[in-house]
Order: sequence, then structure tokens, then C-alpha cells
Amino acid sequence: MIRIAIFASGNGSNAQRIIEYFAENTQVKVECVIYNVKDAFVAERAKMLGVEARYFGRKDFYENGSVRLFLKDHQIDWIVLAGFLWLVPGDLLEDFPQHIINIHPALLPNYGGKGMYGRHVHEAVVANCEKESGITIHLVDDHYDKGQVLFQAKCALAPDETPDSLAAKVHELEYEYFPQVIAKTLLG
Ligand code: GAR
Repeated sequence: MIRIAIFASGNGSNAQRIIEYFAENTQVKVECVIYNVKDAFVAERAKMLGVEARYFGRKDFYENGSVRLFLKDHQIDWIVLAGFLWLVPGDLLEDFPQHIINIHPALLPNYGGKGMYGRHVHEAVVANCEKESGITIHLVDDHYDKGQVLFQAKCALAPDETPDSLAAKVHELEYEYFPQVIAKTLLG
């Protein structure tokens, strides 16, 4: 059995789709959801679907090794970042080389890097009057949004596109492709 830990920071709509996608899978199990924002809705979603959800704060990630220990105890094989808005700590990059998958709500290398997450990305894309945006699913290394790209999908921007309408379009792409790409990456 391949065990996944999902990291998330907020709403968790992607996390929910991933949990549902693998619910009946005999080879892959979403073992837990780790979240770093107290009261994040992702915790409710996970619990509703019968998946353990655990909060960890900044010290747990970057100083006292709690997250690392928790992942070891749960025999986690892969980490999936589904709307996780902190940099992955170095010790986790060491423990999970090429075994951390992230989704980014734009077509990297454009609109990536520090400060480019969630709504900020869509605001920048709309402000620049881009004709298209999309999603990038990639492996994580020690630079923001720079690891090996596994998959990209595009959507067109309407002339009257807003950051909110674009976010909705991008979410649809994420729901459609993210679970599939995770399955393909883990199972080949
Ligand atoms: C998603 O659109 C994801 O691509 C983005 O946050 C959103 C989370 O939505 N991730 C990043 O910006 C990471 N740099 P969700 O909580 O509803 O799944």
C-alpha cells in the first residue's frame, strides 16, 4: 500500500477530491491531512470523509521535527501539496526526495515564485490581460515552484475575466486532473 499525506492550508476542495478519488483504491491510501492554519475548512472535509486531520504550527514544521516524526509514524510514502502555502522544510525534502507533488494554479514558469499563490496568482494573470492560464502539477524541490513538471492544462481567459471567475475555471481543471496525475505518478 502506498500512503499519501496531503498538506493543505485552507478550503481543501482539492484535498476532498483526492480523498474521494482514492477512497476505494487498493493500492493507494490517503492516510492523513496535515494543515497549518487553525480552523481551516480542510480539516472538516477530511474528518467527514473519515481521514485523520492534524494541525501543525510553524515550530512543528521548521523547528521541533514534529511533522517529520508524524509522517514517519504514519509510514507516509508521498506528500501531496493541495493548496499548501508554506515552503516545504528542508528535512522533509531530504526524507521525500522526488516524492512531493504540488499543484500550482498557473502555467509555470510564469506566475510562480514567492508571493504567487492562490488568489494573488489570478489577480496578476488578469491584471496582465493574459489570454490563457491553467494549472501546473510538479515535483517539489528546494526552490519555489521550480521542480520537474509532471503535467499542465490550459484554460482561456474571457475578455471580462475576473480573478474570481478565473479561480473557478482553474479549480475545475484541478479537480479533473490532479487526482489522475497523482495516480499516474505513484502507480505508473
Ligand atoms: C488551489 O487553486 C491551488 O492550486 C492553490 O491553492 C488553491 C487551493 O484551493 N495552490 C497554490 O497557490 C500553491 N502555490 P483548495 O484549498 O480549495 O484546494
